[in-house]
Amino acid sequence: MHLIDGNQIATALIAELKAEVATFTGRKPCLTLVRVGEDPASVSYVKKKEKTAAEIGVTSRIILPPVTITQAELFALIDGLNADPTVDGILVQSPLPKHLDEVAVFRRVSPDKDVDGFNTLNLGKVAQEDDTGFVSCTPAGIMELLARSGTDLKGKHVVVLGRSLIVGKPIALLALQKRAGANGTVTICHSGTTNLATLTRQADVLIAAIGRPEFVTADMVKPGAVVIDVGINRVPDATKKTGYRLTGDVHFPTVAPLCAKITPVPGGVGPMTVAMLMKNTVKAFHLRAAL
Ligand code: GUN
Repeated sequence: MHLIDGNQIATALIAELKAEVATFTGRKPCLTLVRVGEDPASVSYVKKKEKTAAEIGVTSRIILPPVTITQAELFALIDGLNADPTVDGILVQSPLPKHLDEVAVFRRVSPDKDVDGFNTLNLGKVAQEDDTGFVSCTPAGIMELLARSGTDLKGKHVVVLGRSLIVGKPIALLALQKRAGANGTVTICHSGTTNLATLTRQADVLIAAIGRPEFVTADMVKPGAVVIDVGINRVPDATKKTGYRLTGDVHFPTVAPLCAKITPVPGGVGPMTVAMLMKNTVKAFHLRAAL
């Protein structure tokens, strides 16, 4: 079993981006992060994004609207950022409080600043295999992990567990694309799927993105499969100072020995998501510079 080291691959990517940004004279790329409310996971993710931006030389701005912000007020805030020539990338951290329409908020972000890749236009470009848009960070990070760990999807059966807008749907489209490294045969499973384990056992590459701790057990995995664990779940653990431990969507202790390759949690997909966000921000900067 080979452990796919997301930290190591993300560190290499970050070093490449840092070297590129160092060559920019004048204004540096600027990423604006919007976090509504105090969801503990979101607080920690936004901090990590801020820290990585600083490491690369990307300017970051954090906007923390109150949890009571209305849809209209949030739209007005995004409109202001869309119109601001000093802002290259905009990210509205998910999940948003329940009274806000998250997809409508994603749609409000200007497509040329949508470094999250959740705008309708950018999602459509993934379907059209048009590289001029932004691919959302977690799926882009998974493709990069697969490529840099020598996993070619051509001719492989890729089974995706989960159909979210953030991971399931875009990773399925990327794995399906007719290009080097992709060309997979893709099945998407979700909460309405019957005989789930029969399908997951057929996977040459299994991508677990359902947000349920340790859902994938050894009986669901074909020996020799490549397993990508996208889950970052906080489960209560009284032995930890924080009161919780992080676990993936895969039961690592029993599944890992079966696999050809597997990503750990933490240290697998998570660091790649942040690295790809920085890559998208630098891409957005180049797009603005070309205007
Ligand atoms: N929450 C979990 N993953 C993501 C992501 O990639 N982008 C945003 N905006 N929120 C998230």
